[in-house]
Amino acid sequence: MSTENAIQAAALDPAATADSQETINAEITDLHAAYRQTVLDGAAVETQPRINFAPYRSSLLRHPTKDLHHTDPETIELYAPAFGERDVHALESDLTIQHNGEPIGERIVVAGRVLDGDGRPVAGQLIEVWQANAAGRYIHKRDQHPAPIDPNFTGVGRAITGPNGEYKFTTIKPAPYPWKNHHNAWRPAHIHFSLFGTDFTQRMITQMYFPGDPLFSLDPIYQAITDADARDRLVATYDHSITSHEWATGYNWDIVLTGSNQTWMEDEEGEN
Ligand SMILES: [Fe+2]
Repeated sequence: MSTENAIQAAALDPAATADSQETINAEITDLHAAYRQTVLDGAAVETQPRINFAPYRSSLLRHPTKDLHHTDPETIELYAPAFGERDVHALESDLTIQHNGEPIGERIVVAGRVLDGDGRPVAGQLIEVWQANAAGRYIHKRDQHPAPIDPNFTGVGRAITGPNGEYKFTTIKPAPYPWKNHHNAWRPAHIHFSLFGTDFTQRMITQMYFPGDPLFSLDPIYQAITDADARDRLVATYDHSITSHEWATGYNWDIVLTGSNQTWMEDEEGEN
């Protein structure tokens, strides 16, 4: 089977080829080395994940291969959501109080600010988060790996940024979980973040990671961002000023949008 066919087969049925972690690591190393050479040769630094990153097998069949078509923003805005402060209750940012009992795990607070590329706060921004529980399990029928569901933890929350772009979530530290990209593949612990912008065309989705995770170098999703500095920006910082006495440890993670509100549009036009 050719390499290309093997990759496509793996994307359709990861168990069919079950590449080893060593194979994935070697591919990541080669792609990163090639990227660093392009930067040395004068190419621009890449700050976004590659959409066709071969070690992340399913990305190959799933990524767009044609230029995106622009929708008419005036039309789409007729249907787009507009969130105000009264649409999201303050308690929705606490993922530990959604059920009758306390969820199991390490209680944490994740706080930070949403800033534009010029360092100005982005106020009134809808942030949604979703994550696995303290055992690395999602409440999702496709997640069937043998780790317990926590009846007191759903793993979703949302908040609106304050006047200084600030946000804060109280939650449980998620655990790593296995996935079927290759044999013995495990994702570093992470929290998914969505920032809605002012309409559907601006939605941005990313992941926040925890400092010092030993799985970083093995994870083809994290490593799909070929630039080391850009990868580092997805990792929160432990912040003892956010930690509260006998209650929760604290992490800081500022979300800096790469430019003003037009940045997402520039990405869609393939300008960077
Ligand atoms: Fe996840």
